[in-house]
Amino acid sequence: MCGIIACRAFEPAPGYLVAGLKRLEYRGYDSAGIAVSAADGTTAVFRTISRVDSLTGLVEDWDGPLLAGTGIGHTRWATHGGVSVQNAHPHQDCEGRLSVVHNGILDNADRLRAELVHAGHRFSSEVDSEVICHLVEDRLLDSDDLLGAVSDAVAQLTGSWALVVLDARTGRMVAAAHRSPLLAARSAAGIFLASDISAIGDWVDEFHILADGDVVEVTNDLVWTNSGIPAVVPAPIPRPPRPHFSLTVEADDHMAAEIREQPEAAARLLEEVGGRIATGELWNDLGLPRFDRMRVVACGTSLNAGEVIGSALSRLGGLGHSSVVASEAAGSVVEPGTLTVMISQSGETADVLRALEEGPEGSPVLALVNNVHSTLGRKVDAVLSCAAGPEIGVAATKTFVCQVIVGTGLVISSLVASGRMDVARAHRLVNDLYLIPEQLAEAAAAARALLPPLVEEVRGAKGFLFLGRGAGVAYAAEGALKLKEITYRWAEAYPAGELKHGPLALVEEGTPVIVIDDDDHRLAGNIAEVRARGGRIITIGRLGSSVEVPLSLAAPCGPLAAVVPLQMLALGLAVELGFDADKPRNLAKSVTVD
Ligand code: F6R
Repeated sequence: MCGIIACRAFEPAPGYLVAGLKRLEYRGYDSAGIAVSAADGTTAVFRTISRVDSLTGLVEDWDGPLLAGTGIGHTRWATHGGVSVQNAHPHQDCEGRLSVVHNGILDNADRLRAELVHAGHRFSSEVDSEVICHLVEDRLLDSDDLLGAVSDAVAQLTGSWALVVLDARTGRMVAAAHRSPLLAARSAAGIFLASDISAIGDWVDEFHILADGDVVEVTNDLVWTNSGIPAVVPAPIPRPPRPHFSLTVEADDHMAAEIREQPEAAARLLEEVGGRIATGELWNDLGLPRFDRMRVVACGTSLNAGEVIGSALSRLGGLGHSSVVASEAAGSVVEPGTLTVMISQSGETADVLRALEEGPEGSPVLALVNNVHSTLGRKVDAVLSCAAGPEIGVAATKTFVCQVIVGTGLVISSLVASGRMDVARAHRLVNDLYLIPEQLAEAAAAARALLPPLVEEVRGAKGFLFLGRGAGVAYAAEGALKLKEITYRWAEAYPAGELKHGPLALVEEGTPVIVIDDDDHRLAGNIAEVRARGGRIITIGRLGSSVEVPLSLAAPCGPLAAVVPLQMLALGLAVELGFDADKPRNLAKSVTVD
């Protein structure tokens, strides 16, 4: 995981680096650091285990030589070695000449470290990335060519990397990428590199993406090479319009803002795609072959969205679907006629990318992403955007809603295009989709009014159960996931009928059991079984529920509006317990390691 940034700018580098890192904090926030070329030919390094913002104070306190426009920066999600300043990037070689930031994982770091230590190198951290500094240092003993030294060094690595090396002695800077995202951009302000366009989008109009194996030197221009051979600079990609990358980093509470934004995000999305669903165009424009079954591959919240989308295909079209956890996709059988739909907000999730790489050749893959320029978006046969706009809170909220809407729209559109659904029915279903923004707004209003006393009541609970039936099961799973990740409470989700086969043993006096009540008549029995054991039932859904939300039984997405109170329950409890919901412990928004 981790996010990296670098610049060779006309203004002092710290301003750019810190501003960019704030926008990359979603990739990890265990520590942050920058290294900046100084006027005396040294590099000034600032590192912290506090938030990125605190780097500004460290730079302000700097009383050394003038800081130049060239520098590198990093925000970390710890993999190798604990959270400490020592383990924070940038890392340096033995002499403090080279500074390195790295995103990725080096599989052969232990062996390389042992060899380098044997050769006399002194390590100062536990981090795998530090081997890069010493490998490049070694190569520079033979020649002063940083570009050649970095090319040689990365040839010895296995694993994944997006990295930038800054040489204090010469002021040269070289970047390399392999299976971790990195992009480069030129503009009047200078040259910039970053893991993601959001970090540098304020200063550039277009960017180039490094391909696997690329090694690029940043001079006054970009010198592009691959495997030691000069390469053509890849075609520029226009920066997305500002609302699609420009993050409201100033908001103190992103998750709350993103939950509030859901009706608007849904309406925006429907305006974009709604008119192309019932005509079959949404599907036809993708240029994919007709399919007979769907296989969803995703992780976490995206997997829950995939379950809703797959269920819609079965319910509306009578076609089979399966959902596969991306990290376990390698063993799954893909029958002929299957469309694989990979769903990922970031499009950078390593487990999903690995599943794509290891999937069967020739079987079509559609990606449903929030960033069509992401690695996943670029590697598949067709890509569809969930167009939710930037999501900063680590817990996915508005992207889930948008994934469900566009994925369901896609299902309807494909059924029309393949002659399996008549256009009149498709129009009726699309009309149901158009009701969603209003339903989400009503659900939010109900939750705002009714949840506070319930949150207060369950604040001491150690564990929670979430139940649903049919289309409600995936929403129960999403509610449990939200609660776990931001309140650090145990939460399990089950199809309500499964309760009596084991999980009922968890229910004791006062155990909160959250039920997605979409009026399935069998739920009453399951609720009674919990109540008989002292469980505290909280229902979300139909008239008479603890939190009523508008549901239409025939809705193509199932009880989607119920997800709003579920998100707000988790958020309310996190706030009540004093946790930072935007940055839950141990997590990062973009999970770029296997
Ligand atoms: C949950 C959450 C994670 C992500 C998962 C997949 O709130 O955010 O479970 O859904 O890590 O991420 P993407 O969708 O980027 O592949």
